[in-house]
Amino acid sequence: MAATTIEVEAAAGQPHHAKLERWVEEMARMCKPDRIHWCDGSAEEYESMLRLLVLTGTAIPLDAAKRPNSYLVRSDPADVARVEDQTFICSRSREDAGPTNNWEDPAKMKQKLTGLFSGSMVGRTMYVVPYSLGPIGSHIARIGVEITDSAYVVASMHIMTRVGMHVLEALGPDGEFVRGLHSVGAPLGPNQPDLTWRCNAENKWICHFPETREIWSFGSGYGGNALLAKKCHALRIASVQARDEGWMAEHMLILKMTSPSGQVKYFTGAFPSACGKTNLSMVIPTIPDWKVETIGDDIAWMKFGSDGRLYAINPEYGFFGVAPGTSMKSNPNAMLTVNRNSVFTNCAMTMEGDVWWEGMTADKPAKLIDWLRRPWTPESGRPAAHANARFTVLASQCPVIAPEWEDPKGVPIDAILFGGRRGGIVPLVTEAFNWQHGTFLGAAQSSETTAAIAGKVGQLRRDPMAMLAFCGYNMGDYFGHWLKMGKHAGARLPKIFYVNWFRRDENGKFMWPGYGENSRVLKWIFQRCDGKVHAKETPIGRIPEVLDLDISGLTIDALHVQELLSVDVHGWLEEVPRIKEHFAKFGDRLPQELNAELQNLEDRLKAARS
Ligand code: GTP
Ligand code: SPV
Ligand code: MN
Repeated sequence: MAATTIEVEAAAGQPHHAKLERWVEEMARMCKPDRIHWCDGSAEEYESMLRLLVLTGTAIPLDAAKRPNSYLVRSDPADVARVEDQTFICSRSREDAGPTNNWEDPAKMKQKLTGLFSGSMVGRTMYVVPYSLGPIGSHIARIGVEITDSAYVVASMHIMTRVGMHVLEALGPDGEFVRGLHSVGAPLGPNQPDLTWRCNAENKWICHFPETREIWSFGSGYGGNALLAKKCHALRIASVQARDEGWMAEHMLILKMTSPSGQVKYFTGAFPSACGKTNLSMVIPTIPDWKVETIGDDIAWMKFGSDGRLYAINPEYGFFGVAPGTSMKSNPNAMLTVNRNSVFTNCAMTMEGDVWWEGMTADKPAKLIDWLRRPWTPESGRPAAHANARFTVLASQCPVIAPEWEDPKGVPIDAILFGGRRGGIVPLVTEAFNWQHGTFLGAAQSSETTAAIAGKVGQLRRDPMAMLAFCGYNMGDYFGHWLKMGKHAGARLPKIFYVNWFRRDENGKFMWPGYGENSRVLKWIFQRCDGKVHAKETPIGRIPEVLDLDISGLTIDALHVQELLSVDVHGWLEEVPRIKEHFAKFGDRLPQELNAELQNLEDRLKAARS
């Protein structure tokens, strides 16, 4: 492409969309790229992005015999995870962003960002990436366009979303789309070579303008900060649209479970970042003749069907999964998914030209190049891969992807799971009494923080519905939206459960083996949906007795199972004021139903204590 002309119009053969072309022109005038490239989503385009990344030293091709058509990318150490402190919801009123989001006035933020974006793409190419979230033609699917100056983002978007000309065709001459503007914030001087990962370490801004359905992201090239279709569009902007239009945009995996007799159910699960969604979505059951298949591993969009059931689609096209901890033992399906055509970011490299990360193999390799490009040995005393190292791969490569994963109707959901990392108190599984109680369980959800977020790891925080960082409006109103969905006329609602794979014993060891063994809990949930298995009523919800849970063939301390399935009344009574404090933050935006649920919980606990 010529380096001097700025071609704002879409390429020949593409339908004209005046509003889209005007926007691209306006953004180009501000960012001043050397050239504009409209992405067609072709294989050639993907390859040319990777060639570029290799040329600039950002990516290394892996050994083709070990992992065909795969690459390792190393980022800047100052750009390794989502930056929640620098993520803003710029709604017109501060109250609409609510107490859990950073807020700034949209006009002020636009002004500040205009300063940063002005000339931010000098010396670079501006890529225009039209994408569909969800199968094109699905009534649940939506279109967005991301403008970016990062070839890594373009390549990743090819994997994570449906990109290309067919999207512009579906958009037609005047279709609605979400506008995403992204720059790594590192313009190039006249003879400056573009080398390695570029970002603007001191100046990162991930900003959302929910009323105008816009995203402006500056300074970071990593994951959810830069792949704007993912958290920014599919969750923060979509949650606002979902509220306005009566559907749900949730941070949830979607799985299909088939019983030995061939009965099928679909579950979604909302666990915070790096708390097990990808793993559960492709889990291999350890209980004989049960089967799990994957629909999605991170995001679910759900709408009521005419039959009153909630139907979910996976808006994404690929997985951006946590690498550390992934092994043939913990998650064989993920390992088989990434055995070809994959992009790895911030993993370590072996001497044979393959990738490695902590937990991938029982024995550590004797020698590696770590994610910071330094020689590494097991004696180095530091991890070889970054804790938030990730793989990017097409969902279609997953050996257990469900045949209906792209069904435009979506799949009818039977159960919704909430969960997180809780070392204490929270039982292995709890069934909500009803939708309102389930909404309360989600609203009070809590978890210890992980490396998916820049900042401290292991801090306990409230993370309602795993949406703390992803709800694009006032979370009090979001709770209200959940309650409203429960009152949908003719609704046949999913049952709600709360799970915790992360209880620890007095030595700090996980009490539950997790991974494939989680299928035992899924089986109980499956059978609870049909009322086919017993549960005991407790003050916090319905919990299986030890005999209700299929633990045949599992080697686990019987006392541990007992403890995982019991309610620590005193511990829960200490939890009540913490939930109260959390709810108080929402003031009068908190639905009264949730305070009532909290009061009922306290009353039940007190009755159980005496
Ligand atoms: P995001 O992509 O950040 O949203 O993460 P996620 O929710 O998909 O989490 P993922 O499945 O990638 O798991 C994150 C980490 O938790 C990995 O290191 C896993 O190995 C580990 N993990 C997942 N499931 C379990 C489990 O059942 N038990 C234990 N102990 N660890 C688990
Ligand atoms: C998460 O943090 O929940 C992720 C990774 O799925 S990111 O795309 O960076 O948000
Ligand atoms: Mn996630």
